[in-house]
Amino acid sequence: MLKKTITDLKEPSLRGKRVLVRVDFNVPLGDDGHVGDDTRIRAALPTIEYLAERGARVVLFSHLGRPKGGPDPKYSMQPVARHLAGLTTRPVRFVDSSTGEAAEGATRALADGEILVLENTRFHAGEEKNDPALAKSFAALGDLYVNDAFGSAHRAHASTAGVTEHLRPAVAGFLMQKELDYLGQAIAAPRRPFIAILGGAKVSGKIDVIEALLPKVDGLLIGGAMACTFFRAMELETGTSLVEPDRIALAHDLLGRARMRLTLPHDAVVADAIDQPGTARVVPRNAIPANAAMFDIGPESAQSFGRAIATARTVLWNGPMGVFETPPFDKGTRAIAQAMAAATAKGAITIVGGGDSAAAVAEAGLEASMSHVSTGGGASLEFLEGKVLPGVAALDDR
Ligand code: 3PG
Repeated sequence: MLKKTITDLKEPSLRGKRVLVRVDFNVPLGDDGHVGDDTRIRAALPTIEYLAERGARVVLFSHLGRPKGGPDPKYSMQPVARHLAGLTTRPVRFVDSSTGEAAEGATRALADGEILVLENTRFHAGEEKNDPALAKSFAALGDLYVNDAFGSAHRAHASTAGVTEHLRPAVAGFLMQKELDYLGQAIAAPRRPFIAILGGAKVSGKIDVIEALLPKVDGLLIGGAMACTFFRAMELETGTSLVEPDRIALAHDLLGRARMRLTLPHDAVVADAIDQPGTARVVPRNAIPANAAMFDIGPESAQSFGRAIATARTVLWNGPMGVFETPPFDKGTRAIAQAMAAATAKGAITIVGGGDSAAAVAEAGLEASMSHVSTGGGASLEFLEGKVLPGVAALDDR
């Protein structure tokens, strides 16, 4: 990576310094206000501990949810701060503001090695507009800036982009670095064979990533409902499956260009409706009934995708193979997770894009069996599409 990271900061420059760290603590909160999946919080710990160990005063800030540009207790960072306190032995403080005297005073009251969590950055309307005045007031809360929020790096917001106009050095944290290294390496110099598996509901959301990956991969496997748009391009019956009619021509074009490198499922799990799992059955892809929809790839496809994964030395996966939240339509997605775990054990580099596929891997308890599970949903997709991430571009060059 050609951006500076926290290891480029020399130790004496950290002691007593207020290090403003943008983290992505956009985590699910349960009805009781407790943090659900805390993967993103745990993923930021190496950076937090590294800074605190070296005597920095660690000031963490993040967005949480999508509040409408004003304070909303439902999206307060306080429960997140409380959760973080349970993951570290260091004192964790919280201030219910992220700008102005209260926030600045709280940063100045920190002792070396202590941690402060600021209130949700999106309680300010200027955050998502990358407002320069807001960026400047964020910058007043630190002596230097670290961005460890890979999951938010595709957003050009005041806390991810604008703030760096006023605060330097501005460097990447360990999580940011790890994400960029894994995803970057997979695209730039993959160990071959390099296989990508894409799934999810819609082709439209994945077109750019298909286009970007096609010239680079040795094989592209497509599952999920988006396979049905390709089936239609092959003039197959897709019943009541989700199809994007305005993308059929594009799917046709992709099939023509990709030829042997693009593999679609050979069989499908169909049902009369998603809430009628009792009607689930396996059919060949050319026998999807007119009154049923595909909700998962079939067992034969899962096996042949698994065989392809087993031969690969780099595997990149983004998007579920079916409606994995609803059994029995979770089997295809689980099979991919298991095949990837087996490939990792045999020495392959296995990378899971964030969002749904990361959730499926966590659900299967296989997180530790992957080389890397990205904490970024939209961010990992945009990165794989070859887009410049504003939160990365804003950091100091090497
Ligand atoms: C995410 O969860 O993908 C990131 O935290 C970004 O959140 P956003 O889509 O609300 O900007």
